Amino acid sequence: MKRSVIAGVGAYLPQRVVTNAELAARVDTTDEWIVERTGITQRHMAAEGELTSDLAIAASRQALDRAGMSGQELDLIVVATTTPDNTFPATAAKVQAALARPAIAAFDVQAVCSGFVYALAVADNFIKAGQAETALVIGAETFTRLLDWNDRTTCVLFGDGAGAVVLRAQDGQGTSADRGILSTHLHSDGRHYNMLMVDGGPSATKTTGHVHMKGREVFRHAVVNLADTVREAMEANAVTIDDVDWLVPHQANKRILDSTAEKLAIDPKKVVVTVDRHANTSAASIPLALNQAVTDGRIKPGHLVLMEAMGGGFTWGSALVRM
Ligand code: ACO
Repeated sequence: MKRSVIAGVGAYLPQRVVTNAELAARVDTTDEWIVERTGITQRHMAAEGELTSDLAIAASRQALDRAGMSGQELDLIVVATTTPDNTFPATAAKVQAALARPAIAAFDVQAVCSGFVYALAVADNFIKAGQAETALVIGAETFTRLLDWNDRTTCVLFGDGAGAVVLRAQDGQGTSADRGILSTHLHSDGRHYNMLMVDGGPSATKTTGHVHMKGREVFRHAVVNLADTVREAMEANAVTIDDVDWLVPHQANKRILDSTAEKLAIDPKKVVVTVDRHANTSAASIPLALNQAVTDGRIKPGHLVLMEAMGGGFTWGSALVRM
């Protein structure tokens, strides 16, 4: 059977770092409150005029380079983003124009913080179906553009960034020993639409809007949903939590990461954490964390990596990958 092997990983973070102390100078908050409730100490913020597509292209160049592949070899580009450059066309169109040949498929996926797992699942299914041999999957956000800087309950939580992976088709035996994406599981429950949302949009208000969140409700659902989707990934592949080398979660907040890890009884040392330095970068957070752990040598070829995410919608899901 066909497997989608991760051939290269890349990332990009905007140069500007905003510390909690800097935020506390403009918002009614403190470094202590933010660190204690979220684990975040700083976030990166895109410069004026620096767009989601710029971040996506920079991360993709690194991923292609590490895969030893030219953009001309790509068959498919999927960008997960909630902060596209424009309402349309898709940000993927700009990535394609910059890096790939014309006439391949390129489109965006919108599942907010679960976007990367959704995009990975879509690209994996294209490859499994034989419709693509190679794919570029990107999570890219300029999420700080959606923040209301007068709302201290949300503006301290998010940051900007991008991460990308290059997928290449490879034959596998259909077992969990295969290299590549072993499974993806996606879920959505639109009854919770208003729990975490941006109150703008071309159809509803003709404005971009700002993030609004019922923090405690999000927290409660996140821990349950994330633990469930991790369990279903393990069951589907007949592996246990001890077989998992690394958990690469969506980086929403340190307390969600800790509570989920505790529920799963996974060794906290196996959880890749970047939320302290990146904050919540929505669809970009998983590939940014993956890139971090691959680059610093923790994640090695052959390791079993479990990714999981939950976001607005609610949406949630997981991907189990043999690197
Ligand atoms: N600085 C100082 N005080 C603050 C701040 C702040 N930045 N934000 C809120 N407070 C105050 C509140 O006003 C409140 O004050 P009050 O008691 O006088 O009314 C007090 O702190 C407690 O507020 P709560 O909202 O009850 O604080 P809580 O302990 O629930 O923490 C948080 C808030 C961190 C948002 C928490 O609910 C949480 O982690 N939720 C998960 C949401 C999340 O991570 N979302 C990310 C996007 S979703 C995703 O990616 C999965």
